[in-house]
This record gives sequence, structure tokens and C-alpha cells, in this order.
Amino acid sequence: MTTDPDRVVIFDTTLRDGEQSPGISLNKTEKLEIAHQLARLGVDVIEAGFPIASPGDFEAVQAIAREVPGPVIAALARVQAADVERAAEAVRDAERPRIHTFVSTSDIHIEHQLQSTRSDVKAQARAAVAHAKSFVEDVEFSPMDATRADVEYTAEVIQIAIDEGATTINVPDTVGYTMPLEYAAFLARLYELVPALRDVVLSVHCHDDLGLAVANTFAGVQAGARQVEVAINGLGERAGNASLEEIVMLLETRKSDLGFQTGITTQEIARTSRLVSRLTGYNVQPNKAIVGRNAFAHESGIHQDGVLKERTTYEIMDARSIGLDANSLVLGKHSGRHALRAALEELGYQVDGAALNQAFKRFKEVADRKKQVTAMDLEALVTDELRAGSGDAWTLEWFEVEASSRRPPHARVGLVDGDGEAVTGDFTGDGPIDAIFRAINSATRREAKLRDFRIDSVTDGQDALGEASVVLELADQKASGQGVSTDIIEASALAYVRALSNCERRLEHEAGRTEEPVEAA
Ligand code: KIV
Ligand code: ZN
Repeated sequence: MTTDPDRVVIFDTTLRDGEQSPGISLNKTEKLEIAHQLARLGVDVIEAGFPIASPGDFEAVQAIAREVPGPVIAALARVQAADVERAAEAVRDAERPRIHTFVSTSDIHIEHQLQSTRSDVKAQARAAVAHAKSFVEDVEFSPMDATRADVEYTAEVIQIAIDEGATTINVPDTVGYTMPLEYAAFLARLYELVPALRDVVLSVHCHDDLGLAVANTFAGVQAGARQVEVAINGLGERAGNASLEEIVMLLETRKSDLGFQTGITTQEIARTSRLVSRLTGYNVQPNKAIVGRNAFAHESGIHQDGVLKERTTYEIMDARSIGLDANSLVLGKHSGRHALRAALEELGYQVDGAALNQAFKRFKEVADRKKQVTAMDLEALVTDELRAGSGDAWTLEWFEVEASSRRPPHARVGLVDGDGEAVTGDFTGDGPIDAIFRAINSATRREAKLRDFRIDSVTDGQDALGEASVVLELADQKASGQGVSTDIIEASALAYVRALSNCERRLEHEAGRTEEPVEAA
């Protein structure tokens, strides 16, 4: 990939480990959009998914491998031959395919989860890497739960993987247990025990259970790792993975002291964070480093005074370096199709034909209700259009809500199902949102339970677009949906119908499954 010894490879696992966060249910179109944006951001490797997990995962990885040029496209596989074969098939058409295979080396996992033995695990690792190598040149191997495993035994397994041709060795802190100095010492010991580790790329993959994922990842880089496995907004299993934006901006901001390089176009960070947050429904906490709403806000008078006199008094990074100045673009209700297309192009979206007509229709609806349509609004609208994926079980056609302080609110809705049939429902609820949600349940004859509901505004101002996010549970399947509109009841209804369609899609996948379900990695 690069021969520069100070170049740190950015391996993004938003679409794999990140997608394992509860309630996230990205469809193929949404995953593709995120993958294109990750390519624009300049990540070196996109871990696109776990193809054996479901037909949907397989199709998304395959689509990304076929349609996203630039980064290496990696697919995850357990050590079973069927997993490796499914991963190989999914990434076959990528410009630069990678298979990432893993097996645990901690005794806790070997005894209790795998119910296997150390020697069996060695044999499985050998077979899996050799099998993966028969399909692709670029093979990554991870000894899962390595930081709780015996270092000597883990070194033996790593040696086997290297002997079989693994080109990257990733040492995961699967349960977020290690500490920076301990992790660095673990990696240093691996270098001693496996001198050949210097001939491959050493990678780190840290979870944030103790809030140390970024610190541990950084300690790994200082100990010699030249690949970091990270996710946008720190998404990932449980407390998440190390956040891409934090580690990248650390290496960037302290470059003169550290000397490390990445291939990231940092000006794309804010936008990537917004896209991922929107499509996953996972809001970014306001005080989150780098991409939180307050990361560049100064509240105290002394700080404001200092920044006004000289920005660097209280800012170690320039907001523009992560792309926070890109909001100058403004359209209004007199802007035409050409202006819209040019604005979308500036934002990186190529929209023509029917898609442009649809975007223009949405834009006009918004521009009629909102004086200025900004880049943030356009981004929200385009992302919203993406969600309106074909194959949805239902789409919202119309709604009516009567709200009053004198009588209980009443809602009526009209939906269209996947076969084009119109269905209607109505309900008298506790509040207008409750009424419309239950009216949708009545129209679809589904008893979905609301597990989470949030409403935010895309920009400041009274006429701002509202963005709703809903998590539903239907027959033990949880899924989320999002919706954008100047009317928050409409945004909420859109989000609810999409969440319901996503639950339905999950239920259909479960029903169509013939083999044992595969747990997330
Ligand atoms: O956390 C972990 O160990 C993983 C592996 C599959 C690399 O996600
Ligand atoms: Zn992980």
C-alpha cells in the first residue's frame, strides 16, 4: 500500500463493526453512500461487512466491491471454509480485495465460546489463512480477544498466519480491557516473539469499554502498528471502536512532534460524520471531540475574548480543517434546477435525470417554507431521498392530524405497500405523534413497539428542517428509521414507516434463512 515507514493506514470498520451497534439497519443503498463518502474521505481500507452473516450483508459488500474504486475493500470471515468462500465471492470484483479472517486466542473464548482447544485453533487459523490466500493476495488475520490471551500462544498463532501468507496482522482489544502502556508492552513482546511481524503490517483494533480506545490505538501506533481500525463517530460493538476522526486529528494536529502521515482529506471529516449519524440514527454527543456540535464552540467570556483576538489562544485545530466552513452555499425559492445541480455537485453528489427531478421537487417544497436552503439542508434532503429505498414494505402517502387541547388528538394515514396497494389507518392517541404512530400500526396491521424517538433540527432557526429518528421493535427484531421535513409530524411519520419497513426486512431475512443464524463478529 505504501512503503513510507511513517504512513498510518486508516482501516475503516464503520460498515462492519459499526453496523453491529444495536438498532442500526443500513440498507444496500445507504451502505454504498457511506462507502463512497469514505472513499472521498481518503480511507485506505473499507471493511464493508461480514458476508456470511446474511444475504443482505453479502449483497452490500459485493456492491461496494464493484462500485467503490480507490480503497481496499475488505470482507470479514470466521475461520470456517464457508465464511472465507463467501467473503472471497463478495469482494471478488473489487480493484483491491482483502479477506479478513479471525479466531480467538484467549482461553476464555477458546474454552467457553468456541469449546475448542488451543491446538485446534492453531489448525483452524492455518487452514483459514491458506484458504483465503488461494483467493486473494491481501489477507488479514486477527487473533480475537488477544489482549486477554496468553502472549506466547498468541505469538504462535500469529507466526502460523504469517507463514501461510497473511499480509496484515491485527491485534484486537476485543472487549476494551487493555491500557495504553500494557497494550504497547504486549505488542513489543509480540515483535520479540515473532520477528517476521516486522515484514507485515501490524494493525490495532480497540474497543472503548473503558473509554481508552483512542489512547490504546495511539499507544499501538507508537509501539509500531501502521494500520488502525477505526469507525466514524466511534461507532461499533457495545461502547464502540476508536473513533476515526479523533485518531486522525491527533496524528494531524501533533504531526510535527509525531511525524506520522495518513491519506485522509480531513476537510471531509465533518460531512462524513453527519452522513453516518443521519443514516444510522446515532446522534453525536454535543461535546464529542472533533465532530460534536460544541467541539469548536466557546462559551466562557474569557475564551470568546481570546479567540476573537487570536484563534489559537483557545483552539488547537481550525474548524475549517475538518470541513466546518463548507456551509456558505445558500439557495432560495427562486433558484432553478441548474443551481441545484451545481450546488449538489459541489457537495459531491452527481444527480441527473429522474433523481434530479425528485431532488428539485423536494428542494422546492422546502424552499417554499424556508427562506434559505443551506448546504446542511441539501445534505439532509439528499440523504433522506436515499433512505426512500425501493423494496420498502410501506411508504407514506399522506396524513392528517387533528391536535387540540380540548379533545384527544386524532390521526389518519395513507400508505402504499410493497405491491402498490393503498392502505389506510386511523387512531386517537395521547398526543399527535402517538396518534400518527398508532395510525401507521393500524394501517399496516403491525403491533410495532416504539423503543426510541428523537427529533432534532438540521440547522438553527425557527424554519429549520426537522430530522426525526425512530427505533422500533417488531416480533423481537429492532430497527431504526429516519425522516426529514420542515413539518416535524411528517418527519416523525416518515421515520416510523421506514423503521417499520426495516423491521419487516429483517423479519423476512430471518424467515428465509435456512442455516443457523450467524452472530455478529
Ligand atoms: O473486536 C474484535 O475483535 C473484532 C474482530 C473481528 C477483529 O471486531
Ligand atoms: Zn471489534
